[in-house]
Amino acid sequence: MNIIEKIISNFINNKSLYIGEKVTISEHMIQSAMIAENVKSPNSLICSCLLHDYGHFILENPDKLVSKNLDGKHEDIGYEYLSKFFKKEVVEPIKYHVLAKRYLAREEKYFNSLSDASKISLKLQGGVLNKNESKEFEEKDFFKQSIKLRKFDEVAKRTDIKMKSIIEYKDLLSSQLL
Ligand SMILES: [Fe+2]
Repeated sequence: MNIIEKIISNFINNKSLYIGEKVTISEHMIQSAMIAENVKSPNSLICSCLLHDYGHFILENPDKLVSKNLDGKHEDIGYEYLSKFFKKEVVEPIKYHVLAKRYLAREEKYFNSLSDASKISLKLQGGVLNKNESKEFEEKDFFKQSIKLRKFDEVAKRTDIKMKSIIEYKDLLSSQLL
């Protein structure tokens, strides 16, 4: 099975719910990609959105559970795995999407908009960034893309919209391979 087939099969077979929500992780990632598409994002960012929580799929598979802590770091696990196959533009925003949340949460309005589950995980992820950490993040390549991904991520939890299938993203996924 090649990587694209493997990804598609994981999307179809994984029925785990996205923490604290009524959508599955697969649906959540597809919705993020649909939102990115709706606002005419480049294919690389659509692909980032589509794969941003892929680390959760890997974490659930004990075979792939290398020496990482079980308490998460799904962004690093997803990044490490996907960077073997996908372009930098795709995987860098994935690596930073949790940092982007910690950055955005400095604003009260954004913090209040987070779900309860997301507020709890924010603490586990290290909490809100301080001034220096924020500045360091702003200087990173793919800072803007990471923030965009995070904003799409945040609203991709709806249960009342017509979902696309992962199969419809096959060509887009293939186009973003190394
Ligand atoms: Fe997400």
